[in-house]
Amino acid sequence: MAGELSEDVVGSKVTLAGWVARRRDLGGLVFIDLRDRSGSAQVVFNPEVAPEAHDRAERLGGEDVIMVTGTVVRRPPGTENPSIPTGTIDVVADCLDVLSKSKTPPFYIVEDLDADELLRLRYRYLDLRRPDMQRGLIFRHRLTMAVRRFLDSRGFIEVETPMFIKSTPEGARDYVVPSRLNPGKFYALPQSPQLFKQLLMVAGFDRYFQIARCFRDEDLRADRQPEFTQIDIEMSFVDRDDVLSLTEDMMAASIEETLGVRVTTPFPRLSYAEAMERYGSDKPDIRFGMELVDIGNAVKGSGFRVFREAIAGGGRAMAIVAPGCGGFSRREVGELEGMAKEFGAGGIVSIAVSGGEGDGLEFRSPVRKFLSDDELAGIVRLTGAGDGDLILVAAGPGPVVRNVMGRLRLHLGSRLGLIPEDEMAFAWVVDFPLLEFSEEEGRLVAVHHPFTAPLEEDLDLLETDPLAVRANMYDLVMNGVELGSGSIRAHRRDVQERIFSALGLGPEEAREKFGFLLEAFEYGAPPHGGIALGFDRVVMLLAGRKTIRDVIAFPKTQRAICPMTGAPGPISRRQLDELHIEVVNGERVDPGSGTREP
Ligand code: AMO
Repeated sequence: MAGELSEDVVGSKVTLAGWVARRRDLGGLVFIDLRDRSGSAQVVFNPEVAPEAHDRAERLGGEDVIMVTGTVVRRPPGTENPSIPTGTIDVVADCLDVLSKSKTPPFYIVEDLDADELLRLRYRYLDLRRPDMQRGLIFRHRLTMAVRRFLDSRGFIEVETPMFIKSTPEGARDYVVPSRLNPGKFYALPQSPQLFKQLLMVAGFDRYFQIARCFRDEDLRADRQPEFTQIDIEMSFVDRDDVLSLTEDMMAASIEETLGVRVTTPFPRLSYAEAMERYGSDKPDIRFGMELVDIGNAVKGSGFRVFREAIAGGGRAMAIVAPGCGGFSRREVGELEGMAKEFGAGGIVSIAVSGGEGDGLEFRSPVRKFLSDDELAGIVRLTGAGDGDLILVAAGPGPVVRNVMGRLRLHLGSRLGLIPEDEMAFAWVVDFPLLEFSEEEGRLVAVHHPFTAPLEEDLDLLETDPLAVRANMYDLVMNGVELGSGSIRAHRRDVQERIFSALGLGPEEAREKFGFLLEAFEYGAPPHGGIALGFDRVVMLLAGRKTIRDVIAFPKTQRAICPMTGAPGPISRRQLDELHIEVVNGERVDPGSGTREP
């Protein structure tokens, strides 16, 4: 390969095949940088050595595909290029075959490309020719192999589960596939192999895994794609600690194998309540401090009405300290306030602290005149703020305040350079609530999914105080990104039925939707649990990328479109007929009445 040549092979005859990365004509010689997957090497065409090859080389253009045979020589002193690994050698060509010509590509095939992503996706095969994209995918491959090797060594069996399944809701919308053989019926593409892996436990495959493709029709973001990959795991006869330590060992082994980096295990664990309280997020970035501080005690009798009333109304007053930001201008503070409002707060209060211990501290705040000295002393005591710091306070309903302060914390942490970029900070978040109230649906919904077991000690609250029931569930977080999620499952039919009932699913509806699972549980279901890690996210973070699109060969845009193939596209009248589907100007025909709905 071109990138593997070195001074060790000087004098050897080699044949290289690849793409013309660059051509230069200098003093009668033609120089070609030949690129293949391994890197590139400089090939020299000398009219005195090989006139015919030289002649052809003069007509080569960028991205033409060539095959060259020649001799590896040491470069003349002074012409070495230390910036590439093969910079001390040349290949002096004696033979050149042009295998394929290329049009001028729409963007340069270079390492640090600054081109529109839509254009890159439209010509993804050219984008993937770029060395940094190749490195990303090759890293992904190495990580896949490391994970498979590790799980195999622990006795896990990889089993493929179906892609055409019955629609089972898991939080997102299903992608559906019409059935030609069963008019009016649809398969769903799996949002995850959840139910099948549980059925594999009932079937006795006590350690299952799958590098599984999942499909979800949801709003897309930098770390979300409509089709994505999970490392999906399920185990029988385990408790939570077994799943957590297996996952920790898998992450540590595969990171060590691929990056040569030692990861410390076990990972720190936080309860959901603690994560929300200290970081205002269920996926805390624990690479830096600046934690949220409850200052309710200091301000409950405040002369500032917003603080006082928030506490009196059962809400919260929480602060973060932005170190060294006491000198922020009015405009800078205004920007933070604008952000807080965007995040849902009514506003935030800023308190700039100055002065030393001897002379006492001084405070600058738009609401200074409402705050007593005692109150300010209390805030300083609780937050630990000192000379030059800026205290930011939000007051109101607990969930809003925590969310706003958590997001401001992340913004300031990044803006102030407090986040060590090369650190890998894993954490487990455990003991999530089992259920939450969905405003949209006007009922209780599962925080994770309906198959998650409640903590044994909270089981009896299911009927009396369902929102207080904690789940035997865990999330793996790295650097503020949710990498994975899992739980110990409700393997007993009676418990599963009580959960369905708390979710407002009557026996009939539960049977209709999940009858096959409930039935399986009647034939000897072992206790079991598992986890799924978002593999694209794992690769993205470990490869230091900002979006999962960079580590997926052919991703979709935010609008779930593939600009290269044009998917999704229309299908022919005949295909529609065979599928018993009618499309009317983007409108839907109501099968019941035959009338059109917008
Ligand atoms: P969950 O729905 O939390 O759990 O998904 C697990 C992990 O998959 C990743 N992920 C995604 N990655 C890219 N694009 C998406 N659209 C996307 N959606 C999710 C996340 C997430 O943490 N069956 C359960 C797991 C279990 O209980 O064992 C499940 O799928 O990293």
